[in-house]
Amino acid sequence: MLVVVFSLKGSPGVTTLALALAARWPEGPQPIVVECDPAGGDLVARYRLEQAPGLVSLAAAGRRSSDPGLLQQHTQELPGGLRVVVGPVGAEQARATLVELAQQQTSAMRAAADTPDTVVIADCGRVDPDSPAMSIIRSADAMLLVTRARDDQLAHVSGKLRSVARWGRRPGLVVVGEGYPTSEIERALGVNVMGRIPHEDKDAAALAGRPGRGRSPAKSSLGRAAARIAAQLVSQYAEPSPTTAHMPRLASPGPSSDEPTFAADNESGARL
Ligand SMILES: Nc1ncnc2c1ncn2[C@@H]1O[C@H](COP(=O)(O)OP(=O)(O)OP(=O)(O)O)[C@@H](O)[C@H]1O
Ligand SMILES: [Mg+2]
Repeated sequence: MLVVVFSLKGSPGVTTLALALAARWPEGPQPIVVECDPAGGDLVARYRLEQAPGLVSLAAAGRRSSDPGLLQQHTQELPGGLRVVVGPVGAEQARATLVELAQQQTSAMRAAADTPDTVVIADCGRVDPDSPAMSIIRSADAMLLVTRARDDQLAHVSGKLRSVARWGRRPGLVVVGEGYPTSEIERALGVNVMGRIPHEDKDAAALAGRPGRGRSPAKSSLGRAAARIAAQLVSQYAEPSPTTAHMPRLASPGPSSDEPTFAADNESGARL
């Protein structure tokens, strides 16, 4: 199973959520987290890891082999045991590596994700339709769009939600931190929110390689929220696969003119 996690704007907590999901995956071996952020990876710096093995060495190996074990071979281990494929730190190299991976006939990520009991979580960073991570998103089994609950980020989500839902399979919206209540966001956007990740500075810092007094995902409310999302992904995946990309389920009834707005125009210039 291949799950992609991404944002449209800001830095809402995509990398943090990708790691928390992997740490709290409910069954089987822990997922492999792959840093596919075209803006460059953060894990090397946050965890003081080596640059290799990682995404660059994976792309090079992918030229010669389509072994489904390739992805695992290019992982490094984080404290606590999670296995990650680190992205290059520089944006230019990250983009070039993603372009190269997209051109390979057999995707190492897809090949691994098609292996029984292997879950791959790809952190695709901030995405637009021209992103070199788009082919990974299109090939994913599930995709999570992450946003903060504030006007600026929600405005971008509201304008693009419907086109994003067509990018790939099983779209889900995850809201991080304080701001508008979940029910209000659902009403205004006309979609269900799959999960709400609480704002927990110390616990998020622990997931960014600064343990301090932060709790591990096994003990934190951030981890519990991620566990609920992971469980939903597992149960959605067990259902028959959608043959075409589907729209997010509409909350009923759809948004009407007297409902809250997020103070910004959407794609068509209309307000929610
Ligand atoms: N639930 C949370 N509570 C508190 N702080 C958080 C939470 N999630 C993320 N953060 C913090 O916000 C910052 C950005 O998080 P993260 O790197 O996960 O975002 P991102 O969306 O991956 O950003 P980018 O697009 O820049 O890679 C980090 O300092 C992280 O510790
Ligand atoms: Mg990130």
